[in-house]
Amino acid sequence: MAKIIHDPAEMQRTSEVARKEGKRIGVVPTMGCLHEGHLSLVRAARRRTDFVITTIFVNPTQFGPAEDLNRYPRDIERDTSLAMGAGTDCIFAPEMRDVYPEGYSTFVQVERLGEALEGRSRPGHFRGVATIVAKLLNITKPHVAVFGQKDAQQVVIISRMLHDLNFGVELMVMPTVREPDGLAMSSRNSYLTPAQRREAPVLYQSLQLAERLIASGETSSATVLGAMKELIMNHSSGVVDYVSIADGVTLEELLECKVHRPILVSLAVRFGSTRLIDNITITL
Ligand code: PAJ
Repeated sequence: MAKIIHDPAEMQRTSEVARKEGKRIGVVPTMGCLHEGHLSLVRAARRRTDFVITTIFVNPTQFGPAEDLNRYPRDIERDTSLAMGAGTDCIFAPEMRDVYPEGYSTFVQVERLGEALEGRSRPGHFRGVATIVAKLLNITKPHVAVFGQKDAQQVVIISRMLHDLNFGVELMVMPTVREPDGLAMSSRNSYLTPAQRREAPVLYQSLQLAERLIASGETSSATVLGAMKELIMNHSSGVVDYVSIADGVTLEELLECKVHRPILVSLAVRFGSTRLIDNITITL
């Protein structure tokens, strides 16, 4: 039976005890509404560590004013049983008032990296993400923190923060888990209408198209991005927010797909009011 902890101080004490017993602690931060993508992270933590903590907290500071904070799906009982089934020892599900009490004033900002890609459409998003992840790591005191490649920019930013702020926490990144038709699993997929859901695999199809073009020698990012947009526009009602070919480390846009570092091909597409993201990494 997994333990459910709400109080940050109790969580810290529990982690201290686990550390004193010589256990390696793994943490999987989530906003709940768990699906196979999240559970693959829990299972990875289970394989690599002795005490697995799954955190569940819908973090208001990473949502913009016009975003889906209020309609973000919440079901702690379902999440608890799924996380336990995947091997979680402990759920940390704090209350808002304990995470951001009155007078709260400290934020973590990873400069530049947080302003690219998603940051352009979602100003302040990564300030909220870095802040809550820093807090969750200070509360859960893990040896290993597990994140999904689905949120590629989040991984780059957290990796930077862990180095820059000497967290001494190992970052483990797991591949994107997809539905059989290629759509990346996401809590936000549940907002899609049946018609939008049928069209949504076009995101991954456009990433695969980019991969094929680059593998066959196309080096012009503009050509690849143009083909991706055309595919999405011709095969769905989706509205492209951005498509990008960037350096996977610096997140700087690449005019040519030629660097000998991982290339991050990423995109955000709106279906009505639902915004979906996806990405692949290509190494030449
Ligand atoms: P959330 O969207 O709930 O995602 C939690 C973790 O699950 C993230 O590391 C995310 O990349 C991973 N994930 C989501 N969908 C996935 C998929 N299809 N395959 C593999 N991994 C997937 O990301 C957040 O929450 C928040 O920003 C958080 C880090 C918890 C801070 O609030």
